[in-house]
Amino acid sequence: MPTFSFTSKSVLETAAWAGKLADLLRPNDILALDGDLGAGKTAFVTGLAEKLNVKGQIASPTFTLLRDHEPANEGLALYHFDAYRLSGADEWYELGFDEYFEMGGITAVEWASLIKEALPARTIHISLERAGDNNRFITVTWADERQLQATVE
Ligand SMILES: Nc1ncnc2c1ncn2[C@@H]1O[C@H](COP(=O)(O)OP(=O)(O)OP(=O)(O)O)[C@@H](O)[C@H]1O
Ligand SMILES: [Mg+2]
Repeated sequence: MPTFSFTSKSVLETAAWAGKLADLLRPNDILALDGDLGAGKTAFVTGLAEKLNVKGQIASPTFTLLRDHEPANEGLALYHFDAYRLSGADEWYELGFDEYFEMGGITAVEWASLIKEALPARTIHISLERAGDNNRFITVTWADERQLQATVE
């Protein structure tokens, strides 16, 4: 599987990079985000949402399992999930969340490894690791022919 890694040096760089990646996404893409508390998963989704130009604020928590952001004009919707409070893939299916994978928008799942059995093979995996206060080592792994080695100048 193709893979790409780089070190983001600020929260703004992570968000800007997410925007670059947004340009390469297609309907029904799934982004599985993993990394510890404060790694930058929500920061990534914020940059993604801005570039996709969807409605509503991106909220970090954990209190909501799903926020559905429709596009402000034309474009792709963003389905923002946080799996932190889910017991696992069984609960994901019970809640009917797998249907979002085929609804034509972009799905982004924080703490995606908690539901890994429910993730389709086409999922784009993004891991963020703390490497100091403002540095995050980011690795992207995907399964198709795309060139997802997006960089920020
Ligand atoms: N290079 C960086 N990329 C992303 N965030 C960074 C970076 N450097 C510092 N930060 C800070 O790290 C924090 C990331 O918080 P964020 O809510 O995005 O994490 P998270 O992975 O979603 O955590 P949670 O598991 O609680 O949802 C923010 O306070 C942000 O300012
Ligand atoms: Mg978060």
